Amino acid sequence: MNPLRTLILAAAGNDAVRHLVATAPVSRAVVRRFVAGETASDAVGATAALVADGLTVTLDHLGEDTTDRALAERTVQAYLALLDRLHAERLADRAEVSVKLSAVGQALDERLALENASRICAAAEQCGTTVTLDAEDHTTTDSTLRVLHELRRSWPWVGAVLQAYLRRTQADCRELAGPGSRVRLCKGAYAEPPSVAFADAHEVDLSYVRCVNELLAGEGYPMFATHDPRLVEIIGERARWHDRKPGTFEYQMLYGVRPDEQRRLARAGNTVRIYLPYGEQWYGYLMRRLAERPANTTFFLRALAGR
Ligand code: FDA
Repeated sequence: MNPLRTLILAAAGNDAVRHLVATAPVSRAVVRRFVAGETASDAVGATAALVADGLTVTLDHLGEDTTDRALAERTVQAYLALLDRLHAERLADRAEVSVKLSAVGQALDERLALENASRICAAAEQCGTTVTLDAEDHTTTDSTLRVLHELRRSWPWVGAVLQAYLRRTQADCRELAGPGSRVRLCKGAYAEPPSVAFADAHEVDLSYVRCVNELLAGEGYPMFATHDPRLVEIIGERARWHDRKPGTFEYQMLYGVRPDEQRRLARAGNTVRIYLPYGEQWYGYLMRRLAERPANTTFFLRALAGR
């Protein structure tokens, strides 16, 4: 892995750096590029604007690694309130939610995370929308997939996220490519050891393409999350080869990243979903976005140093 990326991802877990970044005046400007705001109203407003542009949305209430039951409960309440708002604003047919199990208690007790995620899924069903479980670091993958299987007994539409950088993921794609299965494929955003993950960017890309093939050959609904121009092109080619029509798969990109490309793909008739994060706990999310692109980091460090 690129050493700068490793450094930034390490800083994501360091309290002193967290404090420095969170209190720097510049942070707000940088955060605003990737995060839609701190409140549900900010998020719903940004969702309405994207929908008006022909895009669909998945909303993430920021927060992760909760070891506090009360905080996990507050996260669930935030999702329930958000789903009500999406329903009231008639956005639920264009906007779903993404949930990190670690934000609803996974580190405390897998059953607690399952119960909390079930409450969010039940509310989503009432509102006429869906839920996708985000993928976190590899130590949580087995637990997250167990919870996914439980949730799918009641709500078969619950989406999974698989990370192409993990060596196991091609097999997971094959397993999860059945009828009705919604799977988001991304490269993966955490610092992982070479024993479980490909370290070389080219190897990750090759794995991504193998996984694209698995998912397109299957009977599920693949959701290809990448901004990588080469991969976007390959996905289009492979989709045609597998005779997949628009509407039988989708592209996904992050809020604030390649907005022109998001709209170009939508105008070409594709379903394009924007991952829209909001909330006060933006630090871990921001650090992963900075780690993805050295240009973002340089911009951020210059601003932090006041130059
Ligand atoms: P790559 O990082 O190679 O970037 C390709 C090009 O895209 C860059 O050259 C640049 O032009 C542009 N680009 C990419 N990132 C950028 C950025 N931050 N700022 C500006 N330009 C950028 N990960 C995870 O571990 N678990 C998850 O649940 C999710 N969920 C998720 C949802 C969605 C909708 C997306 C798009 C991504 C995720 N991810 C994720 C993150 C994912 O794993 C990955 O870290 C990023 O998408 C970056 O990888 P790319 O495929 O975009 O390629």
